[in-house]
Amino acid sequence: MKKNIAVLSGDGVGKEVSKGAIEILKAVGQQFGHEFHFQHGLIGGEAIDLEGTPLPNETIELCKQSDAVLLGAVGGPKWDQNPAYLRPEKGLLQIRKALNLFANIRPVTTYNALTDISPLKQEIIENVDFVIVRELTGGLYFGKPTGRSIENGEETAVDTLVYKRSEVERIIEKAFEMAQTRKKKVTSVDKANVLESSRMWREVAEEVSKKYPEVELEHMLVDNAAMQLIRNPRQFDVIVTENMFGDILSDEASMLTGSMGMLQSASLSSEGPSLYEPIHGSAPDIAGKNIANPIAMILSAAMMLRLSFGLEAEAKAIENAVDQVISAGHRTADIQRSGRKPVQTNEIIDHIKSALVEDGAISSIMSAYA
Ligand code: IPM
Ligand code: MG
Repeated sequence: MKKNIAVLSGDGVGKEVSKGAIEILKAVGQQFGHEFHFQHGLIGGEAIDLEGTPLPNETIELCKQSDAVLLGAVGGPKWDQNPAYLRPEKGLLQIRKALNLFANIRPVTTYNALTDISPLKQEIIENVDFVIVRELTGGLYFGKPTGRSIENGEETAVDTLVYKRSEVERIIEKAFEMAQTRKKKVTSVDKANVLESSRMWREVAEEVSKKYPEVELEHMLVDNAAMQLIRNPRQFDVIVTENMFGDILSDEASMLTGSMGMLQSASLSSEGPSLYEPIHGSAPDIAGKNIANPIAMILSAAMMLRLSFGLEAEAKAIENAVDQVISAGHRTADIQRSGRKPVQTNEIIDHIKSALVEDGAISSIMSAYA
């Protein structure tokens, strides 16, 4: 298989973790006989510095012509005082819109080898396995009007939470499709006791659910959901929710796995290429020190192989290699046990590569004898 992959590594640790994902994909390509071509595009702060915009048109074109997009992270203190249109985050929001990436899939699976580093009790987080389906191109992030004005002599700021029925329908559909292949439960999270958009969201969820009689639908208010995620996270299978609710709940959920550095995500498009990125940010405080955890990015690449290219065995090979490396205790600082020496970014990438190669060698020996 030949595939063109656009790489937007962005700012801060985005660069280091993207490099890791590329190395791992090259190793997988060699092992399974695929050709992956990588082309780099600018986004975020780096694009502001070099091109005067957080998302140059060439980057959008590059992504549209690729089979899939890998994104590292954007942002940093250097650009924090910039006006809204010149912020690195704007580039991320624009690429989501430009590629129509309406469904952000954030799996939350705890590694039993890592339960000791989560701030939560082991019995709470063992065997947690759910997925957050976050609406990504609507809601509070994109609603108009937005901005500042002077109303009756006082400075006023406004953001708008707006959804069209069709936008809600397609994200709820996606959640039900996913639930059908999993534990067959959808938890639709909203604030229907207060917000009109949430009341429509709830109605749409009820309607869509009629098409999926074998999937259970439950509604949950977002404040309750924030609490239930910590109280009993095993109750969840597929959580579907509005853009900003999903942003907040997914950071909270990452602590079930112990570190933001472990959570991958896929942003699926309704038409063209999909985009894969870690949920963590650019972490400027640790950037360039070779200590960032590249696993979320590497697992995002595995998701790309599975969801965009249908390469299930290849995706599994990466996931298994990551499992092995964590279980063997090779861990970056964010997931290392106290008293043990953390490994560096490039070391953990090398460990994952070796685990891939060893596994590959074992399975080819096994198939030779089969
Ligand atoms: C995320 C991030 C982004 C978001 C920021 C960087 C704009 O927090 O992907 O979760 O809020 O969507
Ligand atoms: Mg976020």
